[in-house]
This record gives sequence, C-alpha cells and structure tokens, in this order.
Amino acid sequence: MMPELEPYRRHMLVCTGGFCSDNRAGRAIYARLALLLQREGLLFGPTRVKRSEAPCLGVCVGGPIVVVYPEGVWYAGVSLELLERIVVEHLKGGRVVDEAVCHRLGPTGAAPE
Ligand code: FES
Repeated sequence: MMPELEPYRRHMLVCTGGFCSDNRAGRAIYARLALLLQREGLLFGPTRVKRSEAPCLGVCVGGPIVVVYPEGVWYAGVSLELLERIVVEHLKGGRVVDEAVCHRLGPTGAAPE
C-alpha cells in the first residue's frame, strides 16, 4: 500500500548537526520553526510547509544551515531572528531573504547548467 501525503507547498530542511554551529544551534531553530509555522497558518492546506531535521547538509560551516524547496534556497547563519524573517517573508510572503542566502539551485528549482 502506497502512503498518501496531504498537499504541501514547501519543504524546509534544518541542519541540527554539530559542525556548522556551536552547540548544535539548529535544534533550537527546528523547534522554533514548528511554532512559527503554526502561528503563520502554514501547517495545513495548500500553503503547508513540511519541516525536517537533518544531521548534516554537507556545508558544515556558517550554520545553522536551512534549505527551502522547491526553490532550492540555502540560508546560512540562521538565528532565531532570521528564522522569523524566513518564515514570514519567504515561506508566507514568497520573497526570499536574499542577504542571508549562501547558495541556490536556480530560479525554477532546477540545478544550474
Ligand atoms: S553539520 Fe550542519 S551542515 Fe554539516
């Protein structure tokens, strides 16, 4: 039997590993993210954002590192204050927080050629 998923708009991965940030600061980011998604009405429906934690995203400096798909936007140095901006401006408003982006796949989410 194949599982069925509810529709969702974006998927956010948060590194909770110990190399890219002191004291695995991504764990606090991941925990706060749940509260912010709830507050902003992004837990259900077509604008739903799935969140996942990862033990490492392969960057390992300048973290915590956060990635948002399908845009393929990678954020570095994500503090609790920056997380709030990412949720409100990017996840809800659709505007990437450009000054905190350290990498991106491309405008369509496809890998650059
Ligand atoms: S430990 Fe965070 S990117 Fe590797």
